[in-house]
This record gives sequence, C-alpha cells and structure tokens, in this order.
Amino acid sequence: MVSDKIKQIIRDVPDFPKPGIVFKDITPILKNPALCNEIADALAEQLTNVEVDVVAGIESRGFLFGLALAQKLNVPFVPIRKAGKLPYKTIQQSYDLEYGSATLEVHEDAFDAGQKIVIHDDLLATGGTVVAASALVQKLGAEVAGYSFLINLDFLNGKDRLKVYSNKLFSLADY
Ligand code: PRP
Ligand code: ADE
Ligand code: MG
Repeated sequence: MVSDKIKQIIRDVPDFPKPGIVFKDITPILKNPALCNEIADALAEQLTNVEVDVVAGIESRGFLFGLALAQKLNVPFVPIRKAGKLPYKTIQQSYDLEYGSATLEVHEDAFDAGQKIVIHDDLLATGGTVVAASALVQKLGAEVAGYSFLINLDFLNGKDRLKVYSNKLFSLADY
C-alpha cells in the first residue's frame, strides 16, 4: 500500500529544526519517480467524491505534489506563498506552526467567489499553516472543499483546528 511505502521511505531527523522536533524528511520520496506517480494517483483517488474547482498548494513542500494533484484532477493550481514572493497584489495571513511563525500570501485574484478549493500540503502538524491558508481562501469568498496531505501527525491534533472550514480531511500516512 502507498501508506506503507511512504512510511518506509520517509527519514526521521531528530532535533531539526529545533530540539525536540522529529522532522519527517520527504526528500527520499522525490528520488523515486514511480512512487511519486503512485502518490499523485492516490491523492487524486481520495478526492473522488469531492467537488474540486482548484487545488491550492502551500510553499514550499506543498508545491511538490500540489501541482501533480491538480494535473491528475485536471483543475487549476494556485500557489499560496510565504510573504514577499508573489509579484502581483496579494492578501496576507500570519500564523504559528510546530516550530515557528510566518506569513502566507495569495494573489487577490487567485480564486473566484464561490469556487471550491482543496488545500494541499505535504504534512499536517499543528494545523497553523493550513488554517492560515483556509483564511485566505475565505477572505476571497471561496470555500474550502477539503484538505489533502501526504502525512498527518495526528498526535498533534491539527485536524481539530480545521473542522471549522471543512470536515473533509485526507492523508496518505498517519502517525
Ligand atoms: C512545514 C510543512 C507544513 C507545515 C506544517 O512547512 O511543510 O507546511 O510545516 O506545520 P503546522 O501544521 O504546524 O503549521 P514549513 O513552514 O517548515 O516550510 P516548507 O514547506 O517551506 O519546508
Ligand atoms: N512541519 C511541521 N512539523 C513538521 C515535522 N515534524 N516534520 C516535517 N515537517 C514539519
Ligand atoms: Mg510547508
């Protein structure tokens, strides 16, 4: 199963980027093109019963499979970026994550009002990052149709913070 393959290949790096954090390193996955394709298929398969107009991926690791997922679903991809990277007019949202804080931005014309957006990221930890992304989606009048992750660190209970936006949460490997 794809979840077993992901768990086998991921590298745990203790005390990165801070003492006490066990970092889930997904770079070994990227060296395996067949597994990358299998993962993109599995991410798309999970959304079979979800109406999706756009996949939004979060910089930077959410870009790796976010575009692949959008292409599998044949829908547009929107990049949600860290502050100061997008060239056109943006809206912003600040947030805390497992090991720091940051600001996310999206172009002000990224989503149309009423569109159904699936937010994709590589990993759900505390949920701070995707809560901020969800706020950006709502600020533009669009709707969070669901969440897509490779990995859910379930013991950090990030999913509880996402429920106010959508109860459709999909992940390929849970810890
Ligand atoms: C990591 C990861 C998620 C986020 C999860 O991103 O890729 O985006 O943290 O943490 P949270 O659920 O506690 O918010 P990071 O900000 O380290 O940046 P990167 O994707 O650019 O490596
Ligand atoms: N983002 C937040 N927490 C993380 C972790 N433990 N491993 C990899 N990325 C993360
Ligand atoms: Mg990230």
